[in-house]
Amino acid sequence: MYDSGKIIPGLIIFVLFITIPIWYNHGDAGDAPKPELPKDAKNCVLPVEDIRANHMQLLNTWRDEVLRDGERGSFELDGKQYQKSLMLTCMECHTSKKKFCDTCHDYASVKPYCWDCHIAPVE
Ligand code: HEC
Ligand code: HEC
Ligand code: HEC
Repeated sequence: MYDSGKIIPGLIIFVLFITIPIWYNHGDAGDAPKPELPKDAKNCVLPVEDIRANHMQLLNTWRDEVLRDGERGSFELDGKQYQKSLMLTCMECHTSKKKFCDTCHDYASVKPYCWDCHIAPVE
C-alpha cells in the first residue's frame, strides 16, 4: 500500500511550489511602474521631478524649435554635448523604449504616436 500520510502532504507542497509564480505575481499587478534608469548617467536633462511631469512638453518644444528654426541647438550636460533630439538624446541614455518609456505609458494607458515615425532603439 502507498503511504497516503506522506503522499498527500507531499502533493500539497508540490502544488504550492509550482504555483508560486502565480501567487507571487498576483500582488504585483497594480503596483506603480518601475522604469529602468540609466546606469551610467546621474542626471536627466531636467531635474527628475520636472522631467517626470513635463517630458511631453519638453519634447514638443524641442520638436517645434528644430522644425521651425532648423535649430538643433546644443547644450551641455555633465560635460557632454547633446542636441534637441528624441532619438539622439533621450534614447542615448534611456536605451530601452520597452523597459523605460513603455513601463509608465502602459501603466498610464498612453500611447504616444511618436514611434510611428521616430525609430526606437533596437533591442
Ligand atoms: C544624460 C543622460 C540622459 C538624457 C540625455 C535623458 N535622460 Fe531622462 N533620466 C536620466 C537619469 C539618470 C534619470 C534618473 C534621474 C534621477 O533619478 O535623479 C532620468 C529620469 C527620467 C525620467 C523620470 C523617470 C522616473 O523614474 O520618474 C523621465 C520621464 C525621463 N528621464 C525622460 C527623458 C526624456 C524624455 C529625455 C529626452 C528629452 C531624457 N530623459 C533625456 C538620464 C537622461
Ligand atoms: C515615470 C513614468 C514615465 C516615463 C519613464 C516616461 N513617460 Fe512619457 N508619459 C508619462 C505619463 C504619465 C504620460 C501622460 C501624461 C499626461 O497625459 O499628462 C506621458 C506622456 C508622454 C507623451 C505625450 C503622449 C500623449 O499622447 O499625450 C510623450 C510624447 C511621452 N510621454 C514621451 C516619452 C518618452 C519618449 C519616454 C522615454 C524616453 C517617456 N515618455 C518615458 C510617464 C512617463
Ligand atoms: C508623421 C511623422 C512624425 C510623428 C508622428 C512624430 N514626428 Fe517628430 N519628427 C518627424 C520628422 C520628419 C522630424 C524632423 C527630423 C529631422 O529633421 O531630424 C521630427 C523631429 C522631431 C524632433 C526634433 C529632432 C529629433 O531628432 O528628434 C523631436 C524632439 C520630435 N520630432 C519629437 C516628436 C514627438 C515627441 C512625437 C510624438 C508626440 C513625434 N515627434 C511624432 C516626424 C514625426
